[in-house]
Amino acid sequence: MGGEPAKWVSMVTARTPTNIAVIKYWGKRDETLILPINDSISVTLDPNHLCTTTTVSVSPSFDQDRMWLNGKEISLQGGRFQSCLREIRARAQDVEDEKKGIKIKKEDWQNLHLHIASYNNFPTAAGLASSAAGLACLVFSLAKLMNLKEDNSQLSAIARQGSGSACRSLYGGFVKWIMGKEDNGSDSLAVQLADEKHWDELVIIIAVVSARQKETSSTSGMRDTVETSALIQHRAKEVVPKRIIQMEDAIQKRDFPSFARLACTDSNQFHAVCLDTYPPIFYMNDTSHRQDNQLCREMESCRRNTSDNVQVAYTFDAGPNAVMIARNRKTAALLLQRLLYNFPPQSDTDLDSYIIGDKSILQDAG
Ligand code: DP6
Repeated sequence: MGGEPAKWVSMVTARTPTNIAVIKYWGKRDETLILPINDSISVTLDPNHLCTTTTVSVSPSFDQDRMWLNGKEISLQGGRFQSCLREIRARAQDVEDEKKGIKIKKEDWQNLHLHIASYNNFPTAAGLASSAAGLACLVFSLAKLMNLKEDNSQLSAIARQGSGSACRSLYGGFVKWIMGKEDNGSDSLAVQLADEKHWDELVIIIAVVSARQKETSSTSGMRDTVETSALIQHRAKEVVPKRIIQMEDAIQKRDFPSFARLACTDSNQFHAVCLDTYPPIFYMNDTSHRQDNQLCREMESCRRNTSDNVQVAYTFDAGPNAVMIARNRKTAALLLQRLLYNFPPQSDTDLDSYIIGDKSILQDAG
């Protein structure tokens, strides 16, 4: 860089969808490295509906690392951001772009500063896994900027240190976060179980019951659960390992009834351990409970009226919003129609902020 006035900026933009767990991660065995007490499985959403877009840039004229989220500057001082930045800088490689006159030696990355601008196309911290998409996108875009040689699985182990569920957003389709055994976390990473084409009839619809920031963050909620719940160890040691095997099998065979039963019961158990926490954590509200009740009844009527089995699965994360997974477009259209009839959006909410997902499927309901 030779003391010359800085003229260049190198920039990378990436877009990463969020993911929704169908077998939940809840509880850490190491808070700093973010190592979970059980494996988890998620489905990565369509980037058109819930994603983070991040632009990372580097220039010798930047005098400090800075970050903006949805246009507002936020602090990068948190331990989790710093862990990700440290891990990525440690793996950075030489970057050369003759046309733009850019030549960065790998040791230069320790002294160069970054500007990061991130934008979510959905409400932040309303239980819609914003940290998952955000941290995964940050790690991925920085890895491209700094020319890392690591594959997505290795990058997932870095994203994990930003937010556990972020490691699963490095892949599309169905993804498993293997909890790993090592104390240093080197084997706690995400692997893709099946790509997005494997089961592409599934339709995911999210009803945003509340876009307000949740009162208990996942991080503090799961800490309290691990410290106080008598059920959580039973869940982590006895229940989840069996469900992981069954869920992998259901996904591989595209067996919707098994998939739905596992997803719904795992969501129920996750909220049960939240209630078993002291003081108890209530992520679902009255509307969420009425919705899951309604969905169970819908499933029951599908089962009785047709020769086919269950048509819709639900899962609730650390928030009141219902995530519904319909077997195909036809079921999704019916589901959406009934949802809008039984749970109309509140007067000050428009359809776009109430329902996240492909609303064009409504036409399929006739
Ligand atoms: C209920 O990944 O947000 O969505 O690792 O502390 O950042 P930290 O927690 P986070 O927790 C997600 C919890 C969950 C279940 C899941 O996504 O598996």
